[in-house]
Amino acid sequence: MSAPLLEVRDLQVRLAGRGGATLHALRGIDLRLDRGECLALIGESGSGKTLTALAVMGLLPEGARATGRIALDGRDLLTLDEDAWCGLRGRRVAMVFQEPLTALNPLQRVLAQVMEPIRLHRLAPDRATARQRALTLLARVGLEERQACAYPHQLSGGQRQRALIAMALAAEPELLIADEPTTALDARLRVQVLELLRELVAERGMGLLLISHDLALTARRVDRLLILYGGRVMEQGAAADLLAHPRHPYTQALWAARPRLGAGRDQPLHPLKGNVPALTQLGDGCPFAPRCPLATARCAAEPPGFDGRLACWEASP
Ligand SMILES: Nc1ncnc2c1ncn2[C@@H]1O[C@H](COP(=O)(O)OP(=O)(O)OP(=O)(O)O)[C@@H](O)[C@H]1O
Ligand code: SF4
Ligand SMILES: [Mg+2]
Repeated sequence: MSAPLLEVRDLQVRLAGRGGATLHALRGIDLRLDRGECLALIGESGSGKTLTALAVMGLLPEGARATGRIALDGRDLLTLDEDAWCGLRGRRVAMVFQEPLTALNPLQRVLAQVMEPIRLHRLAPDRATARQRALTLLARVGLEERQACAYPHQLSGGQRQRALIAMALAAEPELLIADEPTTALDARLRVQVLELLRELVAERGMGLLLISHDLALTARRVDRLLILYGGRVMEQGAAADLLAHPRHPYTQALWAARPRLGAGRDQPLHPLKGNVPALTQLGDGCPFAPRCPLATARCAAEPPGFDGRLACWEASP
C-alpha cells in the first residue's frame, strides 16, 4: 500500500510560555489525508487547529518543540532542516492563512503576487508564460484580468480570499491547507469559497486540510472530519457517518449547537456552555471533562486514548 499524502502520528507541541514556562499545546494529534481527499479539522477557538497546520508547514513559533511524526508521502518532515523546507513549503505544501488582508502584500498587485511562486519555483520558462498561468489561475478562482491587476485593498473580502487561494495553488501543491478561509466572508460567499476548494481538489487530485470552527457549514462539503479539543483529537470519521451518529459528547454538543434554518420558536438553540480552557488550565485528564454531561471522576484524572475513531471513556458504542 502506498504511503498517505499526509500522516501525522502522536504530534505533541510544547510552546515557550512566560518566565520560561512550557505550554503543552498539542497533546497527541493523529491524522491521515490521502490525495483527492478533503479533511476538515473542526474545533472551537483555542482547540489547536492552527498549531497543527503550522506544525505541518514547519512554521511553529520560535521556541516551540514538536515531537511525534509528520510525514508527507512517507518522508518525515520533523527532521528537515530549513534548506529542505524551502524546497517544500509553498511548492508541495501550501497554506491559505487565516487573515486575507494581512497575508497579501498591500504594495503589490494581485497578479504579481500570484506570479511570484511560479517564478520562484521555476515552473514557467519565462515571464510571459508565468503571467499567462497566473491569469488563468485567477480566472479559475473567479477573478477577471481587471481584478487581477488591482491592489489588494481595491478588492472585496471574497475577492481577496480567492486571490489567496490562487497564490497558494500557483506552485501546484500536492497538499493545500486552508485555515478558516471563509471567516471574513458573508454566508453566501462562504459556501462559494468552500465549493470552489472542493472543485479544485477534485480537478487537481491534491489533498485539502480545511480548518474551521463551523461544523454545520463545513461538514457536508468534506470527506472526513477530525474534531479537536484541548490539543487532542476527540473523534474522527467519514463526514456522513459522523454527522449521522456523532458518538463523542463534544461532537454531539457542537452539532446540537448549530443554527438551523427554518427552526421554529418551539425548537430551542442549544449553545455550548463554557469555554475552551486556556493551556495553563488544562489538567491531565480529558480536556472536555469540565463541560461534559457524562464526565466521571476517571475522566478528570486520566485522558482516554484515541482508538482511531474516538477518545472517550463513556461514549456508547
Ligand atoms: N505562540 C503562542 N504562544 C502561546 N500560546 C499559543 C501560541 N500559539 C497558540 N497558542 C495557544 O495554543 C492553543 C491552540 O492555539 P491555536 O492557534 O492552534 O488554536 P485554534 O484552534 O487555531 O483557534 P482559533 O479558532 O481561535 O484560530 C491556544 O490555547 C492558544 O492560546
Ligand atoms: S472522556 Fe469523559 S469527560 Fe471526556 S468526553 Fe468522554 S465522558 Fe466526557
Ligand atoms: Mg486558528
